[in-house]
Amino acid sequence: MSEQEVARKAKPGGHPQDPPNPLRFLEKIARNHGGFAPINMGMSAAAFCLVSDPALIKEVLVEHYQKYKHSTGYQQIRAVIGEGLLLSEGATWKQQRTLAQPHFSPSTLNGQLDWMSKLVADCLDAWQPYAETPAPVDLSHQFNLLTQRLAGVWVMGRGFQKRAETMAEIYGHIQKILFARDTSAEQSANAQGMEEAINLEQAVARLDQCVYELLDEYPEIMHDDVGFLKHLLADGDPETLIRENRRSLRDQIMTLFFTAADTTAASLCWTTYVLDKYSEVKQRIHEEVNAVLGKQNPTPELLKRMEYTEKVIKESLRLYPPVPSFSRIALEDHLIGSHPVSRNMTLIISPYVTHRLAQHWDNPYEFDPDRFGKERSDGRSPFAYIPFAAGPRSCIGSNLALMVSKLVIALIMQRYDLTLVPGQSMEPQISTVMWPKYGMNVNVNRLARLNPDSAFTSNEVSMSDKTPSSAL
Ligand code: HEM
Repeated sequence: MSEQEVARKAKPGGHPQDPPNPLRFLEKIARNHGGFAPINMGMSAAAFCLVSDPALIKEVLVEHYQKYKHSTGYQQIRAVIGEGLLLSEGATWKQQRTLAQPHFSPSTLNGQLDWMSKLVADCLDAWQPYAETPAPVDLSHQFNLLTQRLAGVWVMGRGFQKRAETMAEIYGHIQKILFARDTSAEQSANAQGMEEAINLEQAVARLDQCVYELLDEYPEIMHDDVGFLKHLLADGDPETLIRENRRSLRDQIMTLFFTAADTTAASLCWTTYVLDKYSEVKQRIHEEVNAVLGKQNPTPELLKRMEYTEKVIKESLRLYPPVPSFSRIALEDHLIGSHPVSRNMTLIISPYVTHRLAQHWDNPYEFDPDRFGKERSDGRSPFAYIPFAAGPRSCIGSNLALMVSKLVIALIMQRYDLTLVPGQSMEPQISTVMWPKYGMNVNVNRLARLNPDSAFTSNEVSMSDKTPSSAL
């Protein structure tokens, strides 16, 4: 049972008025019952606990990490991503992580900035027609396409480009099926569940066909390629490695493709949302992009200087963590702090909840990027801020995600002013990845008056310069 299901099915006890959002329910449990709170599932012994205290989170994720395995909540996606880095355990995980790690080092990431920047710029330039019509566009869909393109090339190399549309279509289909399962209370045990299972099987078969074809072609194009796949095939004869490790290679690249695209797109959605909500924050980012980048192409050095933008992204990840909760199943009896944990107990850790605890964050509901400045961060436990989890099984792509988010925001700021269509609900949809439940309709407005010598000046980014529709 996933943590989302736990939250949905848990007996609210004396809280019949609990809001339906399961994360708010978990938040309440943490507030009322402390940093290690059993969750009443109507069974005799508590088999589920919410761990929200940073010191205890550290024990689970770092000190005792070997006493846990990943939650069965990920079983849903196992059929799609297989035994890659997210779902493998023990020696296989260790070997995959050690092999992958160098490809995520800052120097490797910096070396990839050029092509990423071009790819993002191309995607954003393709938004021009949206700026010429008053019709709004669903930004969650656009960000999904953009991050899939990036993740696809980053993982599979240039061979992905010609398959991008087919894979986006299959990906969208799979997302829908998994999302429906994730958010429906009754699963697979009914006719609809059976139909979903068949649909999923067919979609995965199409996905496999794409990936295997790409693998077969890869040795011919790999010499000047950029993808993670090249890194996986670096030690040996690529054709032999592909022939002997087809399934494992497929699982490793699908794992990275799926973990990278969804999460980063959701993060970009929430960041755009807060920028729309807090116009003074948006203004400061515009100023920073203008001062640091102007019309230049981003370089690692320039991105590094965009400190305020980074704080905004971090603060958005605090209030709207794309992975709002994850869990671990205990493999043996032991203690966390003074709390007994028995074998098979599921511990739920929720970045969403821990990021909103008043014991660790001043005015936790306030959007305040400056809280990530050095002075105000001193003394805060690193385990109070866990959008990428922590410890040996933390997100391997955290630096990539931050770099891509900064890059996309900077390149958007060079081109457009995005404004949310007023009156829409931005209720988060709770599933493995947290999306705006009803999508996110925005108007794409071209920047007011471009100065021919610089991208724009802050005065020119007039909030009142909007297409008629965005002024609705
Ligand atoms: C804003 C974007 C992202 C967020 C919020 C995020 C968050 C997370 C979290 C919370 C986990 C831990 C899950 C668990 O323990 O159950 C995780 C693991 C993982 N993430 Fe990310 N992630 C993001 C982007 C990425 C990217 C860009 C990649 C790859 C290119 C990636 C690859 C992975 C992998 C492979 C794991 C499993 C690592 C392991 O178990 O060794 N993620 N991520």
